[in-house]
Order: sequence, then structure tokens, then C-alpha cells
Amino acid sequence: MSSTILVTGCAGFIGSHLCERLLHDGYRVIGIDNFDDFYPRATKEANLEIFAKHPRFSFIEVDLRNGARALAEHVTEPVDLVAHLAAKAGVGPSVKDPAGYMETNVLGTTHLLEWMRQQEVHNLFFASSSSVYGNTPELPFEEEASMLKAAVSPYAASKLAGEELIYTYHHLYQLKALCARFFTVYGPRQRPDLAIHKFARLLRAGQPIPVFGDGHTARDYTFVDDTVEGIARGIAYLLAQEAPVYELVNLGNHHPVSLLELIEAVGKAVGVEPQLSFQVPQAGDVEITYADITKAQHMLGYAPQTKLAEGLRQFVQWLDGAPVQAHHA
Ligand SMILES: NC(=O)c1ccc[n+]([C@@H]2O[C@H](COP(=O)([O-])OP(=O)(O)OC[C@H]3O[C@@H](n4cnc5c(N)ncnc54)[C@H](O)[C@@H]3O)[C@@H](O)[C@H]2O)c1
Repeated sequence: MSSTILVTGCAGFIGSHLCERLLHDGYRVIGIDNFDDFYPRATKEANLEIFAKHPRFSFIEVDLRNGARALAEHVTEPVDLVAHLAAKAGVGPSVKDPAGYMETNVLGTTHLLEWMRQQEVHNLFFASSSSVYGNTPELPFEEEASMLKAAVSPYAASKLAGEELIYTYHHLYQLKALCARFFTVYGPRQRPDLAIHKFARLLRAGQPIPVFGDGHTARDYTFVDDTVEGIARGIAYLLAQEAPVYELVNLGNHHPVSLLELIEAVGKAVGVEPQLSFQVPQAGDVEITYADITKAQHMLGYAPQTKLAEGLRQFVQWLDGAPVQAHHA
């Protein structure tokens, strides 16, 4: 019988793509989400609708902050692996609401780990973030880099704490765990707060694009299908392990793009010449993210495929409401 995967944050941007992919691969999928109000519930319900009726999918509305008991009450089927994507995401908003980020990302993760221990669920894939590297000077970022005094935002600190907590459960209870650091994921259904989505809306409205700093900050933008391919490979890797493991792995693109280059590319994809409005840098932002993906290549056979122009084309097609070709089919 196929394995059962519990996906937390299943109604979100990456979580919804992951559910589609896992269902396509033959897994049973239980999705949980609390429809956090970071962006509209209707957007998340629309994400969920795409696969909600699949015979191997079931959805449970539950809030991780309500503790292990709430999870035990709602999740009654045996689970083989948890893909933990639920979180309060985003660097800027975390500066304004640090306690809220800690409640979901750290306390919520602790409750999930306790539930896993009680239910004897031995496999965990965790969505961590490139933000844990902060302004680490050595480029590209390697998994073995020291993470002491690295986090420069509450969001980054919460993800680093998540990785450490998971290590603790690996150490105490022989959890098999993979913490994957995602690098600025974009594509259809992207969160509305993220740069590409925001820029496309502003361009369409004929408004200027705010450029925080001088425009030379850079991000290792990764297309969502490539990230999801890495997650699917990470899940298969964990399920194949006999002995406890704890691994950190970068799922980036190994190709940083500067903010000015990004704006130009989004302008081309949308078909509008961008007007720029320079602003002071935002608190908590880092200079550059740049993934060393050697470990992911060796361990998982991960090799991102999608060029920025093609990924932006698919994003804009989605934004315009045209059916995006079933990419996991
Ligand atoms: N998008 C990126 O560029 C990126 C980069 C690095 C890491 N990540 C991580 O990947 C994961 C998914 O990110 P995303 O961009 O899809 O974000 P998202 O906000 O679209 O998805 C997160 C989902 O988690 C749910 N959630 C939040 N709090 C919850 C709670 N207490 N209980 C249950 N569900 C809860 C939300 O309702 C949402 O549907 C997050 O852990 C994020 O930190 C994302």
C-alpha cells in the first residue's frame, strides 16, 4: 500500500503544489491548514479546490497552535511521514509580529513534533528557509556554515529554531528528518506579499515599483516546480532510510538575480516598462541569497530546470487566469 503523507500548510502556495504532486505520485495525502489570515482565505480555498476531491486526499482544518491533542483528535489515520510547510512566512511582517511568528513556527512545530512522538510517526520533511543564512559572507551558502549569530529577522530565527528542535527530536527519539532550506520560491499561486507577485500587480496598475536600497540586493529565485521536485525527492529519500538521519539541504537555483534584473524581467513578462521608486532598505532583509546545491544534487539528484523568463511566463499566465498546463501531469 502507498505511504500516507501529512502535509501541513496544504492550502498555501507551495503546500498546494506539493499535494498535487504527491497525489500524482500515488501517495495518500492528508492536508491540514488553519487558513491563517496572512492573505485571504478565499485564495487558499481556491488552491485547495484544485485537488480537494481527489479520492486519496482528505483535508482537516486545524491550527497547529492548538497543541498535540487537537491534532490527535482530528488526524485519526496512521501517517508515515509529515511534510511540515505550515508557517507564518515572510521576513518584513515578522519584524512587526515576532511573537506571532514564534507561536506558529516554533511552538506550533513543537506541538507537531510531540504529536509525531506520541503517534510514532518517524519521518519529517521540514520547510526551512535561506533566510537562516542571514548575511553569511561566504558564497554560495553551504549547509555546514555556522548558524550562530546568523538570523537577522524573527522569521529567520523561528526557522533556525525549528531546525534545532527537529534535531533535538532526532537525537532523543531517533526521528528521520530532512530540513530543506527553500530559496525565494515563485510561480503560479505565489503568495501575494512576495516581490514578483507585488511587482506584476503594480505594473498592471501603471504604478511605480518600490526598490528598497540601490537595487543590487539579489535572490536565488527558484521556480515552484523545481522546489516541489526537491521536496518529492526528499520525501522518497526519507522513506527509503532504515536508520535515523538528520540532514540539512539547500533547495535553491544556484543563480542569484539582482532586484533591478528581476524588475526588468517581470516588466518583460507583463509587457509593461517599469517605473522605479527608490526607498530605504527594509529591516531584516539580507543582501544576497545564493544556494550551493551540490549536496542536494548528490543526495537527491536535485537539478533545477526552470529559467527565470520561463517561470515568470507561467506566473503571468496564472495571474491572467488562463489555465496553466498541468505541470505535474
Ligand atoms: N515561498 C517562499 O519563497 C519560501 C521560501 C523559504 C521558505 N518557505 C517556507 O515554505 C513554507 C510554505 O511557504 P508558502 O510560501 O507556501 O507560504 P503560505 O503562507 O502560502 O503557506 C503556509 C500555509 O500554512 C498555513 N498555516 C499558517 N499557520 C498555521 C497554523 N498555525 N496551523 C495550520 N496551518 C497554518 C497557512 O494558512 C498557509 O496556507 C513555509 O514554511 C515557509 O516558511 C517559503
